[in-house]
Amino acid sequence: KVLEYFPEDKRPDITPLIAERMSIYENPVGKEYKNYRFWPGSNKYTMEWQYDNWNPTNDDVLVASYPKTGTTWMTAIVKNIIYRDSAEKLEMMKSISFLYSYLEQGIPLKYEVMEKLPWKRRIWGTHLPAPLVNMEKLKKNGCKIIYMVRNPKDQAVSWFHFCQKDPFIKSMEGYSENWDEFFDGYISAKQANCAKEGEWYPDHILSWYPYRNDDNVMFMAYEDLKKNTAVEVKKLCDFLNVKRTNDEILSIVKDTSFDHMQTEAYGLSKSYFFRKGRVGEWKRRFTVLQSEQMDEKIEEKFSGTDIKF
Ligand code: A3P
Repeated sequence: KVLEYFPEDKRPDITPLIAERMSIYENPVGKEYKNYRFWPGSNKYTMEWQYDNWNPTNDDVLVASYPKTGTTWMTAIVKNIIYRDSAEKLEMMKSISFLYSYLEQGIPLKYEVMEKLPWKRRIWGTHLPAPLVNMEKLKKNGCKIIYMVRNPKDQAVSWFHFCQKDPFIKSMEGYSENWDEFFDGYISAKQANCAKEGEWYPDHILSWYPYRNDDNVMFMAYEDLKKNTAVEVKKLCDFLNVKRTNDEILSIVKDTSFDHMQTEAYGLSKSYFFRKGRVGEWKRRFTVLQSEQMDEKIEEKFSGTDIKF
């Protein structure tokens, strides 16, 4: 399908890329790239390509996050803020699949497809840690970056449920159907997921943390967004230089609410990205000991930063 965008005599040979992609799927322990371990689906050619050749402008928006931190929600909010005036664009942006918009996924040729979108403001996504994104270039170009942060305890529970849906993932090191085993794999950084050996979710946050005050970067906490959605949406509008009236903001909040998105399924598989959408669900899953263990690790990781959970 992607190749249809090219004139017949200029179609590139993507056989090696497909072979590479298949080999990623066949590798059950995930794939390493620059010492980071990834799930199948991330493509090292694509990661390399975006670092060297991707050239977003100050119209582009990148939603960066660790999985299960509210990425789908934030992406929907950004789409609604930007494309609210055009049902057609909103519909099209909803249907642009992860393979096109995720920096690390799919084959590099997808960038050509995104280039061909008939409007300027494109919305991208990534789960990459900051060192694998060319932050200097993005700062220079003024590409807007929103980084989602979520309490690791809720992220862990959300992640646990997500992983249960995939028998392949459950069989990987550090993942399990049993919560206690899963928790041990999570907290002892055994899971290969956008992390180096010995790293876990807090390390991903710390990789983005140095950029939090850059003009083109905005950190957003899932918990703040949940607590006062309209206020945070207004901040997002200002950050993205989009003027929206109070009524429009309220309708953005409504159209991207958990209930609304779940009913609409938003072009996405319902059970995949929507579960409970609440803050503090970890209390129903963590034992007291697990909570203390996590507090200790979080304290250790974030001491010296202004991040509090
Ligand atoms: P839970 O599993 O805790 O319910 P991601 O999109 O990064 O994969 O994150 C998924 C998490 O965000 C899930 O958390 C999901 O339910 C929650 N979520 C999805 N849409 C949401 C919305 N509109 N409002 C609040 N939370 C939402």
